Amino acid sequence: MEKVIEEEKQGTTLTLAGVQGNTKKLFIESYGCQMNFSDSEVVASILAQNGYNTTQRLEDADLILVNTCSIRDKAEQTVRKRLETYNAVKKINPSMKVGVLGCMAERLKSKFLEEEKIVDLVVGPDAYKDLPNLLSEVEEGRNAVNVILSKDETYADISPVRLDSNGVTAFVTITRGCDNMCTFCVVPFTRGRERSRDPQSILAEVNDLASKGYKEVTLLGQNVDSYLWYGGGLKKDFEKASEIQKVTATNFARLLAMVAEAQPRMRIRFSTSNPQDMTMDVIETMAKYDNICNYIHLPVQSGSNRILKEMNRQHTREEYMQLIDNIRKIIPDCGISQDMIAGFPTETEQDHQDTLSLMEYVKYDFGFMFMYSERPGTLAARKMEDDVPEEVKKRRLQEIVALQQKHSAYRTKQFVGKTVEVLIEKTSKKNESEWAGRIPQNTVVVFPKENYKVGDFVNVKITGCTSTTLIGEAV
Ligand code: SAH
Ligand code: F3S
Repeated sequence: MEKVIEEEKQGTTLTLAGVQGNTKKLFIESYGCQMNFSDSEVVASILAQNGYNTTQRLEDADLILVNTCSIRDKAEQTVRKRLETYNAVKKINPSMKVGVLGCMAERLKSKFLEEEKIVDLVVGPDAYKDLPNLLSEVEEGRNAVNVILSKDETYADISPVRLDSNGVTAFVTITRGCDNMCTFCVVPFTRGRERSRDPQSILAEVNDLASKGYKEVTLLGQNVDSYLWYGGGLKKDFEKASEIQKVTATNFARLLAMVAEAQPRMRIRFSTSNPQDMTMDVIETMAKYDNICNYIHLPVQSGSNRILKEMNRQHTREEYMQLIDNIRKIIPDCGISQDMIAGFPTETEQDHQDTLSLMEYVKYDFGFMFMYSERPGTLAARKMEDDVPEEVKKRRLQEIVALQQKHSAYRTKQFVGKTVEVLIEKTSKKNESEWAGRIPQNTVVVFPKENYKVGDFVNVKITGCTSTTLIGEAV
């Protein structure tokens, strides 16, 4: 099975060991991207300082928070369905409060309170520090809303509590917001303008994780390659910075090197890279440090120049292929994955063929593939008709997924007979007696447990594979 559109289907509930003395119970659930999961850890940390420990039992909660996703219509529908369940629980426990966080909160604002009567609290992605105040309002019986987007909030000073953690891998947020304005995308509206986090606070968080035994960090942002720290403030205001700020600024390649050097035994990953911002510096830095994983998630969305332009992606098909060539030249064994959108407005059969032929050129290791979903307020929604019929979108998506499956199988087969380094993360879902972990290229490996444990780096000889998973034995 390819990793298609799974994230909307299931939320993940997060728990942590309690802070002593806290009496109230928080049930927090996250939908959507990794950033939401990471944000929920910030929220749990803020509320742990304000009397709340987390619970996994919905019926025990004094407060339910749901961190929401707006990226596609289906993601929003999933959250609305979930609210019905909360409603049923609230009937039994009427004093329970319900708050909506994240992108749907930002998009719908106080309209949420009218549309979903169960909701007491609406909080956008930049307003989590205001949660204690907002909760006091709610406790006094008033609804509370804060959806103000910020110029500089990065939560750099909050040490996230690691929820639902395997104790081995963790996310560290390095940028928030996005300035790219891809015409299909709601993120710039829900997460605001792009800003970067102080490298010193990033290093402090990574060092803290290392001291707690974590073995891998993923540096997280909507567009990590665009990272730029010049003392705070929006990326777009960099031009207005002083000369000294400009010459001492830290870009993404520099940050990567700093993190890799600070913790040479930790694996470093990052996500997501927008092709337009990925520089040779970054690729060379990856090649220079062994502990930076040879894996790049490099969404392209379409293989057609005309569609790329309509999407406001700032590169052509040819430039993207050149970037792939450079990556393969400098990091020959680099894993590369994609995001694709099938059926963007005006997409023709030829445009679709261009997507398939680009995939054929790259032969991605894996991908995340979606049907276009019109998002209110985006340029595409305002200026373009959603004119590709549903059945056509579906069929094109199926063709993209089938081709990706073929390429994934081709890529996994290349590893058979080789010995790879695996970081053990957990017990395999399919077999209790096997571990599951990943290689630097991000492909999952399963192998017999023997005496190894979670968090070990193990050399594994690959003896077989499916299209998504490598099968092997420790050597
Ligand atoms: N900046 C991040 C997050 C983008 S959202 C990144 O580049 O990964 C993740 C993916 O969702 C996008 O890459 C795109 O493929 C998909 N997506 C975004 N908006 C969409 C829409 N309106 N319809 C369908 N898919 C969409
Ligand atoms: Fe969205 Fe494009 Fe930014 S996909 S998150 S606007 S890079």
